[in-house]
Amino acid sequence: MIEQLNPDGTLQHLVTLEGLQRPLIEQLLERAQTFVRPLDAPSSRSTALAGVTVANLFGEASTRTRGSFELAARRMGAEVINLELHLSSRSKGETILDTVYTLQSMQIDVLIMRETEPGVPGFVAGHVSSHVSVLSAGEAHLSHPTQGLLDALTIRQHKGNFGPLTVAIVGDVAHSRVARSAWRALTLLGTGEVRLMAPPAFMPEPEEFPGCKRFNSLDDAIAGADVIMMLRIQKERMAETSVPAAADYFAEYGLTPQRLKLARPDAIVMHPGPMNRGIEIDSAVADGPQSVILQQVSNGVAVRMAVLEAVTERVRRLRQGA
Ligand code: NCD
Repeated sequence: MIEQLNPDGTLQHLVTLEGLQRPLIEQLLERAQTFVRPLDAPSSRSTALAGVTVANLFGEASTRTRGSFELAARRMGAEVINLELHLSSRSKGETILDTVYTLQSMQIDVLIMRETEPGVPGFVAGHVSSHVSVLSAGEAHLSHPTQGLLDALTIRQHKGNFGPLTVAIVGDVAHSRVARSAWRALTLLGTGEVRLMAPPAFMPEPEEFPGCKRFNSLDDAIAGADVIMMLRIQKERMAETSVPAAADYFAEYGLTPQRLKLARPDAIVMHPGPMNRGIEIDSAVADGPQSVILQQVSNGVAVRMAVLEAVTERVRRLRQGA
């Protein structure tokens, strides 16, 4: 695994939450919280990233993650370029490292990558020059660290301490990088009980998610839960024949207002988006009073501001000659 910390203990890369320590996660969440503003207030701004150049390199579709990384960088004064990999020279056969070195030659400081291939963000982080940071914006089914942080921030805003909480992660867990990073964040923060609910075909291998309680029934999984985290079926990561029929899936595993009554009355409902309404979640729940789905989106900007500030701290200090 790639070393994500600089010798001075500051964060250089964020490819995975694996191996990070709780105080660092808590520090990032606390910093992110300072960037959160009410929707009708002016957005949080700073000049912390003045002189820093950020490249968004996305090899998969994205609305929330890409938009929020770009806004986070711009609101802190960075220069930003966005490259769609299918429109870049990668589509002409250029290797990922040639693309990365090309960007590095344009004085890129932070490379934000969304990749279908497992291992690519870590591989790139191992090859960039020492002043460049690599941030994963989603790596195959494996990891989505800033999503894990924004999910943790959202839970913290509603519930405070993680210790007494029961969190149910529901849906296509096997193919979900969101589930893996959320589980890591929740575990690092000392969450009392993390439950997985997946149809048998979408249950991860037994050695994954150690310590989680596993359920095949949605009713059982959400009974008494404080937090319900719904997941989309990752059609793009499975054979077409494995995709369940929407109506059948909804009947058995869709979160409806009736089912939600089984959770604690103050339970919150989360979803990383994009939602498939009427498949994993009923619109009445998605738009209902217990939904925090759009708050997760707002927190995404704040978390990405905190992460960008953290990974550029060392290079900014060096450039200022401090
Ligand atoms: C997710 C992703 O791309 O991993 N979305 C996101 O980043 N907010 C989840 C998904 O695509 O289902």
